Amino acid sequence: MQIVKAIDYYHMSRMAANIISAQVIIKPNCVLGLATGSTPIGTYDQLIRWYDKGDLDFSQVTSINLDEYKGLSPENDQSYRYFMNEHLFKHINIKPENTYVPDGLEPDSEKACASYNEIIRRAGGIDLQLLGLGHNGHIGFNEPGTEFEKETHCVKLAKSTIDANSRFFASMDEVPKQAYTMGIKTIMQAKKIVVVVSGASKAEIVKEAFFGPCTPRVPASVLQLHNNVTLVGDEEALALIP
Ligand code: F6R
Repeated sequence: MQIVKAIDYYHMSRMAANIISAQVIIKPNCVLGLATGSTPIGTYDQLIRWYDKGDLDFSQVTSINLDEYKGLSPENDQSYRYFMNEHLFKHINIKPENTYVPDGLEPDSEKACASYNEIIRRAGGIDLQLLGLGHNGHIGFNEPGTEFEKETHCVKLAKSTIDANSRFFASMDEVPKQAYTMGIKTIMQAKKIVVVVSGASKAEIVKEAFFGPCTPRVPASVLQLHNNVTLVGDEEALALIP
C-alpha cells in the first residue's frame, strides 16, 4: 500500500485528483469506479477545474458508481445518481450513456444486481476505483459483517442510517430502507484502488482498517490484501497510523 500524506482537505483532494487524472491521461478510455459521500467532493471539484482548463478529456471514459438507494429516482436529490450529476458529470464531457449508477428504480433486486455485474464485466472491469471510508469501516454499503465474496447485492440499511436519512424526506415512508452496492469481491477486482480520508473523526478507523487485522468486522481491512492501493489522507485522518 502507498500512503500519500496531505496537509489538509484541499491538498488531499488535489493529490487524489492527480492520481485519477494520470489514469485518464494514460488510458483515455479507462473505467473509473466512483464514490459519493462528502470526502470525494473536493476531488471532483479539482477534476472539473482541470477539465475547464483543457487539461483533461473524459469523452472516452466510462464511470461505474459504487452504490445507490433502492427506490430513489435519478431526479430525487437524495439519490446518488443526482449527486454524481451535480458534483461531476454535468460539469465535464463524459458521455451520460457511459456513466453507470445502480438502477434504484429496479424493484427486482436480483435483476438489478445481475445487470450491474454484467455492466462491470462488459466494461472490462474497473481500472481505478475511488473509495471513501465509513466510520465503522464500511466501503460502498458493505457494512461490518459483510462476506468478502459478494458481488453487487442488495443491503438492508441499518436503523441508524434510516433514522439519520429521515431528515431529508417528507415522511418516514419515503426514506429508503435498502440499497444496491458493489460487493467487496467486485471492489477487490479493480486494478487500482484509491481511498480518500479526511478529518480527525476518521483517524481511528484508518488505523484499524489499514494496520489492524483483516476481518469482515472492518470491511475496508480487506484492502490490505489488494496489490495496488493508495491511501490519500490529510494529516488529521492519518494522525494515528504507525
Ligand atoms: C459512497 C459510499 C460510502 C462512503 C462512506 C464515507 O458512495 O459508498 O461508503 O464512501 O460512507 O462517506 P464520507 O465521505 O461522507 O465520509
